[in-house]
Amino acid sequence: MKALVTGAAGFLGSFLSEELLENHYEVVGIDNFFRGKKEYLPKHKNFIFYDLDLVKEKDKFARIVKKEKPEWLFHYAAINGTKYFYDIPYQVIDNNICMTQNVLSACENSSVKKIIYASSSEVYGEPLNIPTPESHPILLNVHTVRDSYASSKAICEFYVKLFANKKGIEYLILRIFNTYGPHMDTSEYGQVIPEFINKMFEDKKFTIIGDGEQTRSFCYVTDHTRVVKKLTENVSNEIVNVGNDKETSIINLAEIMHKMEKKEFYPEFLQEREYDHKRRCPDISKLKKLINDYPKINLDEGLYKTLKDYKMKK
Ligand SMILES: NC(=O)c1ccc[n+]([C@@H]2O[C@H](COP(=O)([O-])OP(=O)(O)OC[C@H]3O[C@@H](n4cnc5c(N)ncnc54)[C@H](O)[C@@H]3O)[C@@H](O)[C@H]2O)c1
Repeated sequence: MKALVTGAAGFLGSFLSEELLENHYEVVGIDNFFRGKKEYLPKHKNFIFYDLDLVKEKDKFARIVKKEKPEWLFHYAAINGTKYFYDIPYQVIDNNICMTQNVLSACENSSVKKIIYASSSEVYGEPLNIPTPESHPILLNVHTVRDSYASSKAICEFYVKLFANKKGIEYLILRIFNTYGPHMDTSEYGQVIPEFINKMFEDKKFTIIGDGEQTRSFCYVTDHTRVVKKLTENVSNEIVNVGNDKETSIINLAEIMHKMEKKEFYPEFLQEREYDHKRRCPDISKLKKLINDYPKINLDEGLYKTLKDYKMKK
C-alpha cells in the first residue's frame, strides 16, 4: 500500500511518514520547506521525496500523483503557526486554500482512494462548549486576521468533503488540537511548547502572551500518528477531533517545564493577542469509540521526551 504525505518535512508530516513506513507502507513525501526541514525527512528505502510547491506547481504535482499511484493521500501541508496568522494573513488563507484545490484536482481520475485532511481545532473559534464535540458549529470572525487560518481550514473541509462525495472517493477530516513533540519549529513562529523551550534554554526573558490562564490540551505526536494510522485503516467519511482531552493552563505548562529543568520561574506577562481563544479542549468520545487505547502518553512524559530531544540536538 502506498501513501502520499504533503507537508512531509514538517512536524506532523515527518512523524506520520515514519509511522507509516514502520508499518510497511510505502510513502511519497511532498514539501517546499516553507517551514519543514530536510533533516526531518525519513531515511528509509520505501520513502521517496519531491521538493515541490503545491501552490505554484499544480501540474507537476498532478504528474507525480499519476506516476506514483498512492492509494491514501494525507494532506498535511499548510502555512501553520499562530504568528503567521497575524503577520501574513492573506498569504495564509490564499496559499492554504489554493494548495488544497491543487491537491484535490490531482486526485481526480487517479489511484487515490482516500483523502485525509489535516484540519484544526481553530475552526471552533471561541467554543460555546468545552470539551468541544465535532457537532459544534464552525465559528469564524472576519474582524480578526487570526481567523485567516481557521477560515482556510473550514473552507478546505468543505472542499474535501464535497469533492470526495462528488468523485466517489473516501475522506477523513481530522480536527487536530495542539500537538507537540520533537521536530517543532522553535522560532517565534512556532507553537507554545517549542517557544517556551527556546526561551528557557536561551536564557531569554521568560514572557507569556496574555495572563497565562488561557488553556490548551496537548497531544504527544506519536499518539497523533498512531491514531491517524488506525483511523485511516478503519474509518471513512467522518470528521473526528484528534487531540488529548486533558486541559492545561499555559502558566501551569510553563511551571511544569521549569520544574522539570530545575529552572527558576519568573514569568513576565505580555499584552494578549487579539481574539486569542481562552479555552480549548476536545470532546474525544467519538475518537475513543473508534480507538480504545488512546491517549497513551501524558503531558509529563511527553514533555520529558520533547525536552530530552531538544537538549540532545543542542
Ligand atoms: N501541530 C499542530 O498542533 C496542529 C494543530 C492543528 C492543525 N494542524 C495542521 O496539521 C498540518 C501539519 O501541521 P504541522 O504542525 O506539522 O505544521 P508544519 O508547518 O510543521 O508542517 C506543514 C508543512 O507544510 C509545508 N508547506 C507549506 N506550504 C507549502 C507549499 N506551498 N507546498 C508544499 N509544502 C508546503 C511546510 O514547509 C511544512 O513542512 C497542517 O495542515 C496544520 O494546519 C497542526
